[in-house]
Amino acid sequence: MQFQNVVGVVTSVSTGLVAVSLNDGNAAKSIVVGGFCAIPDGRNGSHLIALVDSVSGSVDEESSSSGKPPAASANARMTIIGQISPADAGRFRFKRGAESFPALGSQCFALSNVELGQLLDAVTATFQKDELFELGAYSLSQQTRVCASGNRFFQRHAAIVGSTGAGKSWAVALLLERASQLQGANIILFDLHGEYKPLSDPETGFATRLRIAGPADLASPGDDVLFLPHWLLSRDEMFSVVADIRQESAYNQAARFAKHIFDLKTEWRDKHKLKKSLQTFTLDSPIPYSLDELIDRLEFDNNEMVEGARSEKKGPWNGTLTKVLERFRDRIADRRNGFLFQTPDVADSPDWLTQLVARLMSSGPDQRGIKIVDFSEVPADLLAVAASTLARLLYTVQFWLEPQDRRPMCLVCDEAHLYLPRTDSADAGQSRSLETFERIAKEGRKYGVSLLVVSQRPSDLNSTILSQCNNFLSLRLSNDRDQSAVRNLLPDSMKGVSELLPILDIGEALLIGDAVMFPTRIRLDAPSVAPSSASIDFWLEWQKGATSASKLALAVENLRRQGRKTAE
Ligand SMILES: Nc1ncnc2c1ncn2[C@@H]1O[C@H](COP(=O)(O)OP(=O)(O)OP(=O)(O)O)[C@@H](O)[C@H]1O
Ligand SMILES: [Mg+2]
Repeated sequence: MQFQNVVGVVTSVSTGLVAVSLNDGNAAKSIVVGGFCAIPDGRNGSHLIALVDSVSGSVDEESSSSGKPPAASANARMTIIGQISPADAGRFRFKRGAESFPALGSQCFALSNVELGQLLDAVTATFQKDELFELGAYSLSQQTRVCASGNRFFQRHAAIVGSTGAGKSWAVALLLERASQLQGANIILFDLHGEYKPLSDPETGFATRLRIAGPADLASPGDDVLFLPHWLLSRDEMFSVVADIRQESAYNQAARFAKHIFDLKTEWRDKHKLKKSLQTFTLDSPIPYSLDELIDRLEFDNNEMVEGARSEKKGPWNGTLTKVLERFRDRIADRRNGFLFQTPDVADSPDWLTQLVARLMSSGPDQRGIKIVDFSEVPADLLAVAASTLARLLYTVQFWLEPQDRRPMCLVCDEAHLYLPRTDSADAGQSRSLETFERIAKEGRKYGVSLLVVSQRPSDLNSTILSQCNNFLSLRLSNDRDQSAVRNLLPDSMKGVSELLPILDIGEALLIGDAVMFPTRIRLDAPSVAPSSASIDFWLEWQKGATSASKLALAVENLRRQGRKTAE
């Protein structure tokens, strides 16, 4: 490759890091942080490619005020990221890393748009064609498309981070849209605000939407409503819903819960004549049991009197479960928790779980491979439990599938900071949730389950999960702590690139990880079906009329019944 635009000479080299003294003001202008330079490596036609990390220098005030290009001594610091050399048929080959280093005094070239295009083509050619998907345009050269490896992006967990309104939901919609073009895409999106509904439009969408039951769905649930019955919860999760599991006395109470739950599950098994096939079930196996029965048995314990030496005395559990029972009853009666505790009778039948799993994990003529699960009606205090129950169900079914029958599956966790917080700030329910997701983060790769965590607060996200992510798509991050969470992911020599994070435009992102060869600044394509997350134009909206009294009345009605009904 013959580069044209000499901008300076190499003045110092240390492993991978190169300092370049730039020729004049114009040269300094064509070097930007995050851009690329080429430096001949001594072999015929072969060049090292360096990513510009910083540019510094002093500007001669006289010439700059006279409008001339500043006469200045400017320096650039760059990191060698790979090597480009001629290949067959006028093409070029890109190789990551450096086999050699530039000699002092070597010329340094800035890349023109055409050269940049050739470089990125060579980079793209290092991946198999079929594993690539398009994300958008390269920020510094809009006509150059950026592709990433879909295999690597989804293989070992990824994260999308960015301040509110930076474009995360749009980026998620774009990724889903790209994946939806694949026949067997298998993605389940946890939609916390119901904002991805347009993606399931029968005409223009590409996903199937399911909703976790809200209070208004309990009486006659529609086809799209999902229940996550209480018996899907592990013993610890179940107990965290009714008591603070960290309390000293909780240990004994939890043991009592466990005993009754196990007995009730055994009774269900025997009633349905499944003794033979379910011989080895455990306490946490997803087997239905009745909540009324559980309460009756705990109630019995709580009131039990036993034979004493002289007269009747209080049983071992007498009076110890009053508080837990009270809380339990409250929880069950609350219609907002109906998706857990007020499940339809049919959920008790042995086939029901199979049908639930099929709705989530299979696709066919009337069911698309990409599923959106709407959590918007799940109360905040049960969100972590609901998310982890669903994730665990999906993960364990994948685990128990024969390897040849597994289809790789990605769980997209939107607003992940709400249920995957840092360990030190997690409440009882969130701690249980973390156990599930940490397990998926650590072991999911082997079973073809990956996580895509999406959050506006990377610094509040659980660090175990974050550290397992191999790819980061970072949109604009204005907060310093969040920026450093991303900066820490970069090798020392590339930390300068993180300076870009606060100045990225809306919809512009830095992709860091093995799905691309080097940190790449991308102007993401807008998805063809946008989520309904649009920022509201306050000033323009205020120029229109007010909300009518009847609309407010309807909102109050919805608020009371905790379900959305639109005006007839
Ligand atoms: N790639 C893009 N191209 C053009 N505009 C975009 C792009 N991405 C986002 N936007 C604009 O930014 C707005 C907000 O984007 P989005 O809803 O994705 O933000 P977000 O990061 O998910 O915010 P929050 O954290 O509040 O959910 C969109 O409504 C859209 O107008
Ligand atoms: Mg969003």
